[in-house]
Amino acid sequence: VTSAQRKSFGSDNHAGAHPAVLTALTAANIGDATAYGDDPLTEGVTARLCAEFGAAAAFFVFGGTAANVLGLGLMLRPFEAVICAESAHLNGDECGAAERVLGSKLLTVPAPGGKLTPALIASQLAGRGNSHRAQPRAVEIAQATEVGTVYTLDELRAISEFCRASELLLYVDGARLANAAAYLDCTLADLAAHADVLSFGGTKNGAMGAEAVIVMNEPLAAAMPFQRMQLMQLASKMRFLAAQFGALLDGGLWLANARHSNAMAARLADGVAGVPGFRLAHPVEANAVFGVLRRDQVRALQQDWNFHVWAEEAAEESVTRWMTAFDTTPADVDAFAAAIRATAPLPRQPVF
Ligand SMILES: Cc1ncc(COP(=O)(O)O)c(C=O)c1O
Repeated sequence: VTSAQRKSFGSDNHAGAHPAVLTALTAANIGDATAYGDDPLTEGVTARLCAEFGAAAAFFVFGGTAANVLGLGLMLRPFEAVICAESAHLNGDECGAAERVLGSKLLTVPAPGGKLTPALIASQLAGRGNSHRAQPRAVEIAQATEVGTVYTLDELRAISEFCRASELLLYVDGARLANAAAYLDCTLADLAAHADVLSFGGTKNGAMGAEAVIVMNEPLAAAMPFQRMQLMQLASKMRFLAAQFGALLDGGLWLANARHSNAMAARLADGVAGVPGFRLAHPVEANAVFGVLRRDQVRALQQDWNFHVWAEEAAEESVTRWMTAFDTTPADVDAFAAAIRATAPLPRQPVF
């Protein structure tokens, strides 16, 4: 196996599309369909999504950044702000999209394990009522989080109760919501019950560029048709986005894919447990392993394997991210784990 053929552990975005998604696209390709979502396939899949989530409305968009911007856009007036974890994808990895497009300030909080808590949210409320300060109105959390951890249902409940009591709306970045539901063994509706608006990621789950914004009540959803068009996320050939979600919903494929990718991450963590030089930076709950390794181990692995160096820790260590996908096989994991184990011996020091 050459390194070009090796499975990438760089991102779940490195995986291709699931064959069932491609089959559904081919099926949706037959004949004409009215554009911009006014077609039976889009209407049918939208209704199925609403039923899964217990939601008032669902809207397809092309990408996760757009879903976040559009979802938060339903909640905010121009002087209102979003409380989020400092480590949030929204804050660190979306090129300031929310700040530019919505013009809203992000009030960021260092959040251990990538998770906000009521106390951390409360720490950002001091400026309320002060006209010199952006006014906190929305809270953004990611489920699963940026570091592969998952909020428990109790943690979600505590946050949502705090938000409701504090006149804050809760937005959930669900780029990996499927992985969170698989980990918690709960329904999408169980997760959605705590949110006002969520995204539901298709792309990382086997689609090829389709996400959904799920809106839990009618008044919040009212602006979305206009906002989605104005912000350039209204697909003319919408049936092809709907078809991808249709395939993921059929027979619970979204859940099977998420369970599988989570299981592959757990297998990888098990396969390297106890290896000298290695420790986990975060618990493995979804489909990512955040492993700390010595720099010489990282350099050796990088010769043959694709993964992400997340952060340079203390002088001699790096935090790496190894991500699995719906199509990662046990053999892929075992080969990568063996390569990691092989880096354990300290490199020989030159003898003078
Ligand atoms: C948690 C999370 N949210 C949002 C996104 C953004 O998705 P996209 O790259 O499709 O804009 C990503 C992408 O990696 C992500 O990991």
